[in-house]
Amino acid sequence: MYTNAAGATTSPVTLPRLLQARDEGRRITMLTCYDAGFARAIDAAGVDSVLVGDSLGMVVQGHGSTLPVTVADIEYHTACVARGLQRALLLSDMPFQSDATPAAAIDAATRFLRAGAAMVKIEGAGFKLDVIRHLVERETPVCAHLGLTPQSVLRLGGYRVQGRGDEAAARLLDDARAVEQAGASMLVLECVPAPLAERITASLSIPTIGIGAGPGCTGQVLVLHDMLGLRHGRQPRFVKDVLATGGSVTGAFEAFVREVGEGAFPGPEHGYA
Ligand code: KIV
Repeated sequence: MYTNAAGATTSPVTLPRLLQARDEGRRITMLTCYDAGFARAIDAAGVDSVLVGDSLGMVVQGHGSTLPVTVADIEYHTACVARGLQRALLLSDMPFQSDATPAAAIDAATRFLRAGAAMVKIEGAGFKLDVIRHLVERETPVCAHLGLTPQSVLRLGGYRVQGRGDEAAARLLDDARAVEQAGASMLVLECVPAPLAERITASLSIPTIGIGAGPGCTGQVLVLHDMLGLRHGRQPRFVKDVLATGGSVTGAFEAFVREVGEGAFPGPEHGYA
């Protein structure tokens, strides 16, 4: 048991408990995090889940993409964040090529689970379906990630909205069903038109966590640096500077929990048509 910033006593968020949120009509909150200090504050604000994202390559290490991030990087930051959490569920991102084969994926994922993660996140479908199956059969919960998958930046030629047009939308819907069938427990949808994200959410029984996917997902994730206004370069429309609303860093985390919970964020203006 744990007492949060509002003085409420809560127990740790387990995967079954998180997954119940969808049935209970409660929206799931998730923030990325890379160190123990921010983890403590995010946890105390009552955020449900924390992702050690490979976005750390860009926002912490200063690279131009997520591709240089290694298994050792994610393992190190997972251990740091785990030391700051008492309540929130911790996810670790599978970095570029760490999930290229089922054998490599189980090695990397085991390092993350040993460092404190309760789930790993994998970008893509296709051959990744075998990887997802392999991990789930070996007691490693998986969150899938579709839509804009930043590890595909070389093929995509940039970071842009995915699933536009009938063919692309149908492919994305098929992929979403396939990752669920392969055993994924959750699905991050990044930069997907809001009506498509809503359709995907309605056609799955696992929760969807949106980022640039409109208000129709089960939950919402933001990159920590983005929501604190620390973005380098142009701010995408799905980012809200919650620091301005919350008035302080801890206030920003509380405002994020409140606004996502009440359905005030994301609004239609934070999504794509
Ligand atoms: O790496 C990351 O931070 C992510 C989120 C944007 C979902 O994958």
